[in-house]
Amino acid sequence: MPIIEVNHLAKSFKVYRKEPGVMGSMKSLFARKHEFVHAVDDVSFSIDEGELIGFIGPNGAGKTTTLKCLSGLLYPTSGDVKVLGYNPFDRKNAFLKQISLVMGQKNQLWWDLPAMESLVLNREIYEIPRKRFDEVVEDLSQILHAKDFLHIQVRNLSLGQRMKMELMAALIHTPKVLFLDEPTIGLDVVMQKNLREFIKEYNLKYNATIILTSHYMADVEALCKRVIVINHGKVLFDGLLTDLIAKHATEKIVSLTLSKKVSAHDVKKFGEVKAFTYPELKILVSRDHLQETISKIMREVTVDDIKIEDQPIEDIIRELFERKREK
Ligand SMILES: Nc1ncnc2c1ncn2[C@@H]1O[C@H](COP(=O)(O)OP(=O)(O)OP(=O)(O)O)[C@@H](O)[C@H]1O
Ligand SMILES: [Mg+2]
Repeated sequence: MPIIEVNHLAKSFKVYRKEPGVMGSMKSLFARKHEFVHAVDDVSFSIDEGELIGFIGPNGAGKTTTLKCLSGLLYPTSGDVKVLGYNPFDRKNAFLKQISLVMGQKNQLWWDLPAMESLVLNREIYEIPRKRFDEVVEDLSQILHAKDFLHIQVRNLSLGQRMKMELMAALIHTPKVLFLDEPTIGLDVVMQKNLREFIKEYNLKYNATIILTSHYMADVEALCKRVIVINHGKVLFDGLLTDLIAKHATEKIVSLTLSKKVSAHDVKKFGEVKAFTYPELKILVSRDHLQETISKIMREVTVDDIKIEDQPIEDIIRELFERKREK
C-alpha cells in the first residue's frame, strides 16, 4: 500500500507585476495586472512505505511547493494528495504527529535558547510521553553526535551544529513520513556526509518514508535508489537512478595524457574537447562510438595514459533539463 499518493497535483500562484516607474505604480493602483505561476503542473507519483526518494530539479522547478502541498502547508489548486491516508491540508492532529517537513534554509528553533528548550516545547505540542521523549533524545543525539550542543544557545552554534539540532526538533516525535528540503545546504563535505548517514539510519531504524530534495547529487547518489526529476512543475523522470544514468548518460569522458604535442585543432575530431592543457586532454565521446574512437586516438596520437569514466551525474541531469527545454 502506498504511503504517499499524488494524483494530478497542480499549484499555481497569482503574482502581480508592477510596470516600471512612477506611472507604473500609479497604474497598478487601479488595475493591478496579475498572472499565474504554475509552480506544480500536473504531478503524479506514488511512494511506498520505507522508500527514500530523491526529488531533484533546478531552482524554481516546484520541489518545495510540492513538499508544502504534501505536508499541508499549501492548498493545491487542483489534484489529489493522500499521505498516510490523510488529506494533508486538513492538518488533522493524527496526521501532523506522523510527519515532518525540514527545510534547510528555515529554522524553527528559538535563537536565544538552547535547542533542548525547543525540544521540550515540541514534546508538549506532540504530547510525547516523558520516557519516550528521553529515549528519543538519547537516541537521536547519539546518531547525530550532537549531545554536546543540546544545552548551548542556538545562536552560538555553527551552521552544521544548528542543522543537527533542527533535525532533532523535527524528528523528536519520530515521524513516519519525512520531507527533507535541502537538509545539507551550506554544510561542509564532512557534515554533509554525517547528515547523510543519519538520514539513512533514520530511514532504516524507523522504516520511515522519506522524500529528499538536494542540489548536491552526492546526497542523492548515496541515499536514493529511486529519483523523481521535476522541472517547470512537471515530472521528467520517475524511476531508478541507475536507469536514469543508463538512459541519459550518452557520453563517456576520456582522459588522456599525451606524450607528444598535438594541436588543439587535431584533437577536435575525436569528440567534444572539455579541457586541453598539454599533456592532459579530456574529451567527451559518445558511448555508441567509444571503441572506434579509442582505436582512432591510439592510431593517431601517442599517449602515456588513458582513463575512461562516466559523466558526473550533475552533467547528465543538466543535459536532461536542457534537452527538454529545447523541445
Ligand atoms: N508563494 C509564492 N508566490 C508566488 N510564486 C511562488 C510562491 N512560491 C513559489 N513560487 C514560484 O513557484 C515556482 C516553484 O518554486 P519552488 O520554491 O517550489 O521551487 P524549488 O524547486 O523548490 O526551487 P529551489 O531549488 O530554488 O528551492 C517558482 O517559480 C517560484 O517563484
Ligand atoms: Mg526549494
